[in-house]
Amino acid sequence: MTEVTEYVIEVDKLTKRYGDLLAVNDISFTVNKGEVFALLGPNGAGKTTTVEIMDTIRTPTSGKVTLLGMDVTKNKHDIVHRIGVLPQGFSSFDRITVRETLQYYSRLFSGMKSDVDGLIELVNLKDKAKEQYKNLSGGLRQRLGIAIALVNNPEVVFLDEPTTGLDPRARREVWEVLQGLKKKGKTVILTTHYMEEAELLADTVAIISKGEIIAMGPPGELIKNNTNYLVLTLQSGDESVFGVVHKMGFEPVLSNHKDIKVRVEHTDDVLKILNAIRDAGALYRGLDVRNPNLEEVFLKMTGEALLVDSVGGKGKE
Ligand SMILES: Nc1ncnc2c1ncn2[C@@H]1O[C@H](COP(=O)(O)OP(=O)(O)OP(=O)(O)O)[C@@H](O)[C@H]1O
Ligand SMILES: [Mg+2]
Repeated sequence: MTEVTEYVIEVDKLTKRYGDLLAVNDISFTVNKGEVFALLGPNGAGKTTTVEIMDTIRTPTSGKVTLLGMDVTKNKHDIVHRIGVLPQGFSSFDRITVRETLQYYSRLFSGMKSDVDGLIELVNLKDKAKEQYKNLSGGLRQRLGIAIALVNNPEVVFLDEPTTGLDPRARREVWEVLQGLKKKGKTVILTTHYMEEAELLADTVAIISKGEIIAMGPPGELIKNNTNYLVLTLQSGDESVFGVVHKMGFEPVLSNHKDIKVRVEHTDDVLKILNAIRDAGALYRGLDVRNPNLEEVFLKMTGEALLVDSVGGKGKE
């Protein structure tokens, strides 16, 4: 019996050097069919290099990437028909329209019939089909970029920072497009600096730092396995609330809006703090208790928490 490959992508001990710089350092992971796999990491971590080796644009220094059962360095021609790519910082022809652009790209894949109007609809550009690229806003340009990546009805789609620089609404519109791709069973490799995006869309995230994968798994599991606290926020204009919390041995942080944030270990701590505030006769208008988010895990793991971490805890970690 022949063995069926269940992974759409297998990355095995992948390394990429640029002269003395080790941009990708011996990384291995697998991606399942239909999965949204997000690569996260600080600037220069090696995300684009990794993605562009997977999608045949760059050549590895060592290691092996197998995509749809094929070696990416040996089968570039066969692979390129079956994948779609939105490169980081995508740009297109300035003076041709959305429809003309998609018609042009679809001609590059001769023999494949592209449903240009269907693509325009999918990325919600129907009203802009006759608009030239130079007149499109950033969000619309990114959506055109995604449509170009889909012109050959690919099985695997690589999207390198599809929402960077977009306003919150435009970003959510792109998220909807990505969710649509997932529903269609496409495998999506995504890079992003927006943790909320990864938390919402990705089945698996890999955090990459200095060319190495430092954590990998479903976002919920990464959060659970790497944090042991809750974040309590108290809305209060009463300065004595801060004093009460501080006196209890916690390390509260005061935000611009007079919100007091504090890391606590258990819900018991929340009750203790609230009781102490009541006993002191201090006042608060509202409170919120939440689990840590992926952003906090990311900052902790990539060692950048020192600068940005704004939620105090109890004692030193
Ligand atoms: N063609 C190249 N030649 C030399 N160095 C390169 C080349 N491409 C990337 N690098 C370097 O390799 C490292 C990884 O770059 P890469 O673009 O993969 O990072 P990234 O994680 O995508 O970063 P960003 O979040 O800024 O997009 C960086 O130090 C970068 O300067
Ligand atoms: Mg990049």
